[in-house]
Amino acid sequence: MEEQAIGKVSSRSIKNDSCSAGKLCRTMIRSIAIFFAISTLFILIKLSDVYSLKQIPVRYPIPAAKVVTKESQTTTYPDTKVTLGPPGKPKLILSWTPGPGWDYMHLRDYAKPVFKSLGCKIDNCIYTEDKSLADKSDAIVFIARSLGRKPKKLPHQRWVWVTHESSCYSGEAGGAWAGMFNWTMTFRRDSTIFTPYQFVVEREKPLAKNFTAIALKKTKSVAWMVSNCHTKSNRERYVAELKKLIPVDVYGGCGPLKCSKRDNERCLENINRDYKFYLSFENSISTDYVTEKFWKMLDRDIVTVTRGPANYSRVGIKPEWHINTNDFKSPKDLAAYLKYLDKNVTAYVQYLEWKNQYTTGNRLKAYCDLCAKLNDPSEPVTWFRPGTLANWFNKGHCIAPKDLNFKRRKRRQTDTFIY
Ligand SMILES: *[C@@H]1O[C@H](CO)[C@@H](O)[C@H](O)[C@H]1NC(C)=O
Ligand SMILES: *[C@@H]1O[C@H](CO)[C@@H](O)[C@H](O)[C@H]1NC(C)=O
Ligand SMILES: *[C@@H]1O[C@H](CO)[C@@H](O)[C@H](O)[C@H]1NC(C)=O
Ligand SMILES: *[C@@H]1O[C@H](CO)[C@@H](O)[C@H](O)[C@H]1NC(C)=O
Repeated sequence: MEEQAIGKVSSRSIKNDSCSAGKLCRTMIRSIAIFFAISTLFILIKLSDVYSLKQIPVRYPIPAAKVVTKESQTTTYPDTKVTLGPPGKPKLILSWTPGPGWDYMHLRDYAKPVFKSLGCKIDNCIYTEDKSLADKSDAIVFIARSLGRKPKKLPHQRWVWVTHESSCYSGEAGGAWAGMFNWTMTFRRDSTIFTPYQFVVEREKPLAKNFTAIALKKTKSVAWMVSNCHTKSNRERYVAELKKLIPVDVYGGCGPLKCSKRDNERCLENINRDYKFYLSFENSISTDYVTEKFWKMLDRDIVTVTRGPANYSRVGIKPEWHINTNDFKSPKDLAAYLKYLDKNVTAYVQYLEWKNQYTTGNRLKAYCDLCAKLNDPSEPVTWFRPGTLANWFNKGHCIAPKDLNFKRRKRRQTDTFIY
């Protein structure tokens, strides 16, 4: 459109000037118009090139929307045809393992009856992995990433969709599985059954660790143990920037400091003893997604620096228990704060002293909730219509990092001191 307009304007102005001699002139006008059209197109292409170079490449299909998480997920449909088993009859929970090696629920080794030894308030459930009992099961638990072969579904059954992978790496299978799931068990607060990696509980007997004495023995600054070097969250880029400002020792597959899987515990012990800070950066930024990268350090004497979903309070982690990159404008500000804490032991140990009061609970307690729900006759008939599971779990919940814009304007470096 724009090229044509330019062509018209130019042809008119040329006509007005001196062009009066028929065919030759028209050819001239046409070639000038073509010349203008081509050069405009060329300029536009060049401009878009420059523009795309300026963009930080973000590999997310969905722009980072403000995440609004509702407290309940599903719509309930009235369905009078479903008759649940008689109350009081034990509920059978089948773990639909994709293969014999899978122990996803970690209930295999519990003394039977499993729900009694878990200490559930309502323990009227039986755990099985025997697929021939599918028809007798009240709930079948499927692992989202490896659903296996689909059994026949009975209307009274609750099919449970379980995942511990973030919304960036896991999702609804669709196909024959579309519309099959009644309940969810995930790390998302608003799952049918909230199943975090871990949770915090108050210690029955507080410890009396002297964290000041512990802190004074530490000789190093920041440690990071990591084996996945290219992540959706692009944490590697954030750390590369942080490293320019404060020493960061990288252990594991991505760093110069090797630490084999077998030596993992010993490495962590050494890190715990020598370092003040540990980077608990998630592989992707996803609502409520806080993994063992955080929890494995909770019972240790080290301060964790987190970079995950904006609000750790939603999964029970108080702001004063960790240092969150979200609270800092840039890696530079974060580094300055870490350096400050490195010098001020009083301020530093405030991030540790709560550990005398708190520890991690037994995450398998989520299965108590599953058992309780199955025994509750007032639980509504509900399921995810095709596509709605993806809508709930994925849409807007794989969040693009917003803290990787390190463009330094050299000329303005002195600005800070002007006012
Ligand atoms: C803890 O250790 C510090 C440093 O060694 C010491 O000054 C302080 O008195 C100790 N506090 C307690 C309560 O023992
Ligand atoms: C974070 O979550 C907590 C607990 O759900 C809530 O009280 C708080 O308002 C949230 N903060 C922000 C900034 O969203
Ligand atoms: C060290 O931290 C404590 C506690 O936050 C604070 O009261 C004190 O002023 C700090 N000292 C210095 C020198 O910044
Ligand atoms: C479970 O989901 C199916 C659809 O897959 C539905 O027909 C059935 O009524 C649901 N059952 C319960 C008990 O919610």
